[in-house]
Amino acid sequence: MQLKIKPVEVVSSIDWIDDHIRIIDQTYLPHREFFLDIFEVGRVWEAIRSLRVRGAPAIGIAAAYGVYLGVKDLPEDGMQPFHTDVERICEYLATARPTAVNLQWALDQMVKTARKMQGQPVARIKETLLELAKSIHEDDKRVCAAIGQNGQEVIPQNANILTHCNTGSLATGQYGTALSIIYHAHLQKKNIHVWVDETRPLLQGSRLTAWELEKTGVPHHLIADSMAAWVMKEKKIDLIVVGADRVAQNGDTANKIGTYGLAILARHHKIPFYVASPISSIDFDTGSGENIPIEERESDEIRFIGKQQAAPRETPVYNPAFDITPHDLITAFVTEHGIVKPVFSKNLEKLRPQQD
Ligand code: MRU
Repeated sequence: MQLKIKPVEVVSSIDWIDDHIRIIDQTYLPHREFFLDIFEVGRVWEAIRSLRVRGAPAIGIAAAYGVYLGVKDLPEDGMQPFHTDVERICEYLATARPTAVNLQWALDQMVKTARKMQGQPVARIKETLLELAKSIHEDDKRVCAAIGQNGQEVIPQNANILTHCNTGSLATGQYGTALSIIYHAHLQKKNIHVWVDETRPLLQGSRLTAWELEKTGVPHHLIADSMAAWVMKEKKIDLIVVGADRVAQNGDTANKIGTYGLAILARHHKIPFYVASPISSIDFDTGSGENIPIEERESDEIRFIGKQQAAPRETPVYNPAFDITPHDLITAFVTEHGIVKPVFSKNLEKLRPQQD
C-alpha cells in the first residue's frame, strides 16, 4: 500500500532540478518556507553542517548529490584516475557531520561505484554517479513507506504516541521513519494522538515535527522536553517511537540528544520503546554504542534560543547533539524488512547487506 498523503501536504526535503539540488532550508522553519538552490559541493557541506538539510537519511541523499556536484566540472582527461577525485570529495563531505552513518553509507556507495568503473570514460562515470544519487534518493522513499507500513504491527487503535526530534519527510526522502509509522496509522484511521517533544537545543520537535503534523492533520500536542516524565505518568502513553542516526551491531542506538532519557523513562513507566530505522542507519561494523562518534556542536546553540540570548554570553557549555540508548532499553526496531526483536546482535545481523 502506498501512502496517500498528497505531495503538497508532506514537504519534499530535497529535489534534484536539472543541474542542482533544491532543499527547503530547515533553519527558517516554521516561520518561512524558504527554498535554497545549491549548485556546488562546498554549499552542500555547509547546508549539512548548518542543518539546513538534516536527519540521517536526508543528509545521505544530499551528500550523494554533493559528490556529483563536486565532480561534474572536473576535466575529463585528467592525469590521475578519476576515482581519486571522487574519494577526495567524499572524504571532505564526510567531515560535515560525524554521527549519522547514512552520510558515510551514501558516500561509500559513490566511491565504490567510481572505483568499479575505473578506466571507463570519465563522462560516463559522472553520469553514473548522478544516476546512483537519484536512486539512493528514490530508494529512501520506498524504504520509508515500508517502515511506515511495517510499523503498524506495533500501533494499536486509539494509540497515544510520544516522539522526539524530527523523523518525517523533512528528515528523509519522503514520509520519514518514526513519523512514517505515525502517518500510516493516521491514514488507517487508528485514531492516534502524538506527544511531540520540543527537542532543545535546536527545536526540531517544535519547529519541524509540529509543523509537519499540522500540515498533515495528525492530532498532536507539543511539550517541553522536561515534561516527558510527567506526561508518561499522567497521560496514558501507549508507546514511544523515535528515529536513529546510527545503530550499532548490538542494537545500541545513537539518536538526537534526549532519546536516552526517554528510554529510561519508558522503562520506568513500562511503555514500549521502538526505534524506526532503515538498514542504511545500521552500522554493522561498529559493535556497540561505545564506538559511535558523538557530534559536539557550538556553545551558542545552548546560549541562545534562536536569536534570543538565553544564558550569560560567556557561560561554559557542553553541547552533545546525540546520545546513545543502550540496546536493552529498546523494545524493537522497525525496519523496511519488518520488526526486529531482541536478541538484536543476532537478529540485526540477519539484515547485513551482502558485500559485492
Ligand atoms: O541533528 P539532526 O536534526 O540531524 O538529528 C536528527 C535525528 O536525530 C533524527 O532522529 C534521526 O536522524 C532520524 S531521522 C529519520
